[in-house]
Amino acid sequence: MVGAGISTPSGIPDFRSPGSGLYNNLQQYNIPYPEAIFELGFFFHNPKPFFTLAKELYPGHYRPNVTHYFLRLLHDKELLLRLYTQNIDGLERASGIPASKLVEAHGSFASATCTVCRRSFPGEDMWADVMADRLPCCPVCTGIVKPDIVFFGEPLPARFLLHVADFALADLLLILGTSLEVEPFASLSEAVQKSVPRLLINRDLVGSFAWSSRSKDVAQLGDVVQGVERLVDLLGWTQELQDLIQKETGKLDGQDR
Ligand code: APR
Repeated sequence: MVGAGISTPSGIPDFRSPGSGLYNNLQQYNIPYPEAIFELGFFFHNPKPFFTLAKELYPGHYRPNVTHYFLRLLHDKELLLRLYTQNIDGLERASGIPASKLVEAHGSFASATCTVCRRSFPGEDMWADVMADRLPCCPVCTGIVKPDIVFFGEPLPARFLLHVADFALADLLLILGTSLEVEPFASLSEAVQKSVPRLLINRDLVGSFAWSSRSKDVAQLGDVVQGVERLVDLLGWTQELQDLIQKETGKLDGQDR
């Protein structure tokens, strides 16, 4: 289970960190309160702030970091049952984790839907407009096309229901870089069996780690990259991870040429 805290090392602000979090830096968007940027009512009143944020998160603008590649290494070692992410930056896909192993619980920019006729479009069809500060409009009915990011009050993607089986099966739960503030995602942290170890790697204690931790809970507090690197070192995977990162960043450099 991961949140925006795993992408801050890539240069993407999280939401709630005092000072640096997105919700503390929305002044230029002129919105009534931070979460409005992800609310349908406000979006239909003024979609510009959301699309300004979308432009900032343009795929390829940011790169995965050590944390993403650690999760990719877990997949390569056939140890990753599933990665549940709240992030919409697409860095998990960019690190090479296959979509079958991903649940993008708050959606992604990979696809978009017309807010009027509900037609679906590939996300990249919208990018030219988004990058040119134009509102993407449906070629059929001219309604505004909204990327399939889950707004507050919208249902989560059907794939989120995989959690019913996944968390019953899991024999280890990693929780990385999230405040566990937003439901229903946050409650997943309680869904594993009581006998299953839970490892939190986060700047601070969050969720039930703070008020009713379990006997097999472990909290590695501080910077997420340092925490992941310490775990990787204990696992003896440091060289493997460095080789993977070198290979993958070489591929991304090739794509940028
Ligand atoms: N190292 C360790 N922890 C970090 C780092 C870092 N480099 N950067 C941030 N964190 C921690 C913060 O201290 C915080 O506990 O990660 C957590 C990020 O929490 P939020 O900013 O609330 O992000 P997230 O949990 O993903 O928010 C959940 O809120 O508004 C919605 O849809 C939005 O998906 C988002 C959801």
